[in-house]
Amino acid sequence: MSRKKISLIGAGNIGGELAALIARKELGDVVLFDIPEKEGVAKGKALDLSQNGAVLGYDAKITGTSSWAEVAGSDVVIITAGVPRKAGMSRDDLLGINLKIIRSVGENLKKAAPDAFVIVVSNPLDAMVYELKRVTGFSGKKVVGMAGVLDSARFQLFLAEEMGVSVKDVRPMVLGGHGDTMVPVTSNCTVNGIPVTQLVAADKLAAIVDRTRNGGGEIVKLMGTSAFYAPASAAVLMAEAYLKDLKRLVACAAYLDGEYGYKDLYMGVPVVIGAGGVEKVVTIALTGDEKAMLEKSAAAVKELIEASKKL
Ligand code: APR
Repeated sequence: MSRKKISLIGAGNIGGELAALIARKELGDVVLFDIPEKEGVAKGKALDLSQNGAVLGYDAKITGTSSWAEVAGSDVVIITAGVPRKAGMSRDDLLGINLKIIRSVGENLKKAAPDAFVIVVSNPLDAMVYELKRVTGFSGKKVVGMAGVLDSARFQLFLAEEMGVSVKDVRPMVLGGHGDTMVPVTSNCTVNGIPVTQLVAADKLAAIVDRTRNGGGEIVKLMGTSAFYAPASAAVLMAEAYLKDLKRLVACAAYLDGEYGYKDLYMGVPVVIGAGGVEKVVTIALTGDEKAMLEKSAAAVKELIEASKKL
């Protein structure tokens, strides 16, 4: 059996970290793709990471390129192409710039890797993944957005720190759009089965929900660009679930066709990822408040999608 091929469209901060993680986990061979002006960066990172394999002892062929021919036949494609946020920018501010980029990536991807499982990371996430599906015409099962795993991880960390327990014991889920309206679900969040609402005071919980919603912005403010370690790990978790048919139940931006009462929309919901891609959208019970927050979040995503259609 030959190795799997994983192409990374965008060889910037997240792209580089994705390549490093995928190589270390030996998930397959890696193609780091970027625009011709950045081909040197893609090739340089590929060479550095290949040499890293000699030190750490992993086997993965890592190639840097600006040619779509190298992406052909990929099993998994992870898209980070685009510009990241600068301080003071919202994810939505990126719409005009990144929309053009995702459209050109989609046109090329359609020809190069029609059978790939595609994970979109570029922001504003929900609008970008919607556009990628629209341009390629790929099935919603094979095009998914990375947001929920990252947002849930942020929620998980802040809760673990507040309670003084291991992050491993906190089971969180963040749904909705990947923006200020995201919905950290407190009603079903547990610490090894104990409802978090029994362990954290309501005011503290509300502050943690708020910090989670601004989790990306907090990092942009500190370092002037957006996060890359945790976003890369989150996308790799999803890629691994697909490649190894792990049936992971995680929150992802998934194509909704009536689930939760929404149609023709991408938004963060619990899904099962396995060899079939997004094998199932899982419907869970939410409180009235959470449903209202999800509705608000869906409205924000719809607004972005409508704005995209005009651009
Ligand atoms: N095709 C391929 N790569 C492209 C294209 C394109 N058409 N246009 C831009 N790129 C590349 C850039 O040249 C750059 O190397 O995408 C890369 C993006 O890398 P960074 O600027 O380092 O951004 P990064 O931090 O990796 O974030 C990428 O993910 O989380 C989101 O908000 C973030 O939208 C941003 C994206």
